[in-house]
Amino acid sequence: MLLDRVKPLDAILATAQKKSLHRTLGAFQLTLFGIGCVIGTGIFVLTAAGAQKAGPGLMLAFAIAGLICIVAALCYAEIAAMIPVAGSAYTYTYATMGEILAWTVGWALVLEYAVAASAVSVGWSGYLNGLLMEFFGFQFPAFLSGAPLALGGVEGGFINLPAVAIALLMTWLLMIGTTESARVNAVLVAIKVSALTAFIALTLPSDQFSTEQFNPFLPAGIFGGFGSGIGAVGAAATIFFAYVGFDAVSTAAEETKNPQRNVPIGLIGSLLFCTVFYILVAAGAVGTVGGQPIMGPNGIPFPAGSEELARQCATYAANELPLVCSNEALAHVLRQIGWSGVGNMLGIAAFVALPSVILILLFGQTRVAFVMSRDGLLPESWSKVHPKWKTPHVITAITGVAVAFAAAFLPVGKLADIANAGTLYAFMMVAVAVMILRKTAPDTPRAFKTPALWLIGPLTIAGTIFLFLNLPFEAMIVLPVWGAVGLVFYFLYSRSRSHLGRGIVEVHEDDLEPHAPIN
Ligand code: ALA
Repeated sequence: MLLDRVKPLDAILATAQKKSLHRTLGAFQLTLFGIGCVIGTGIFVLTAAGAQKAGPGLMLAFAIAGLICIVAALCYAEIAAMIPVAGSAYTYTYATMGEILAWTVGWALVLEYAVAASAVSVGWSGYLNGLLMEFFGFQFPAFLSGAPLALGGVEGGFINLPAVAIALLMTWLLMIGTTESARVNAVLVAIKVSALTAFIALTLPSDQFSTEQFNPFLPAGIFGGFGSGIGAVGAAATIFFAYVGFDAVSTAAEETKNPQRNVPIGLIGSLLFCTVFYILVAAGAVGTVGGQPIMGPNGIPFPAGSEELARQCATYAANELPLVCSNEALAHVLRQIGWSGVGNMLGIAAFVALPSVILILLFGQTRVAFVMSRDGLLPESWSKVHPKWKTPHVITAITGVAVAFAAAFLPVGKLADIANAGTLYAFMMVAVAVMILRKTAPDTPRAFKTPALWLIGPLTIAGTIFLFLNLPFEAMIVLPVWGAVGLVFYFLYSRSRSHLGRGIVEVHEDDLEPHAPIN
């Protein structure tokens, strides 16, 4: 029987109970933490790719993706508060749908966390290059700071060295035990929010803002067709990335005072805040410098990240570059409308703040892989904890090298789309798991219950599948291919070594923190 290995919920809960709970977080701190995890490359960089897909309809795309994340967050909150242990969606699936599906979720979470970390590293590299040019008049040549053209990079691109460097630096910090303190997080949130506020304040009332720029509002329509990756929904599937990371708030449930009230406020508060901000930023960018896509010969936008688009973009002088071609979209807009100084400050804000998003994503990846290794599904030597640093240094190093490798050779848009595919799958499985547990474990205490679950759960499933189908085909196909590779690994390696399969049900005294300490 393939679906028989369901991990007993009681054993998982016993692990959780071994840990002392310090309920110290309030709604405000949770909201801040959520904003810290979420605002990053999505808004600072992918605004350009989103505009290439949807034109001014990018604003609608942010609203669609934000709404789907809010319903997914409501599901996440219930299960995270109920099973507050490391491994998040992987562990929840193990407890409800069994080992093999849990394996696929854990395997897909690699796409969420590790590939997203690569994407943010590449986004950071774009801002670094922009700043070097502004302040020192030089930048890394395309050969050393861009992915190869054939992989959707830039003309003359080969390897993105700054992205590799930042990914490895963050890995090293994580290995030696660095996590972000609440104070550092609050400062970084303030920097990011100030930068975006300045952007909105300078663009929306600007003389150069014109409602004409919004016409046509939907040059590629709402729905560009499944797998096409264009239109407002195609853009929503890509800029969904701008919301990835909010699940970290759910995983802080066990440290929250009055979680029934504060977890949903933290989740929905941070997501609503970001949604409104993102829509205003998109309006400011499009209204001032314009955000119409570069159209191909048949009146359909060139695919974002395509060779054709890169060639078109290469024909513009740097000071005339359209929004859709920029690697540092928001700083570029401010420079275009005569606010170079503030544009540079915004660039510095991204340069300073994006690494913490990389750190949080790497952290998430290492914790999921750690639990999978401890369950016997990945080599057990990977979950060794370093005696001095107290971190899972082996898995962290492996993750870092993989993240750096992907960041070296793939462009940000492709990485973000692939990360989204894995994330959407994990969110869907979380919604399924919450509904199953309501039936199979109705009496297990829940610190937070998803309101109207039988509406919100199916909406989450439908929303995640819908966005997935609107990713570009080549990103969509990565998930089943990656899943197939994972299943081969599972049957050749993991299935026979699984602790549960061998009848070992463990309660771990020394569980790692399931999330970055934030207090
Ligand atoms: N949401 C995060 C970002 O946009 C991953 O960088």
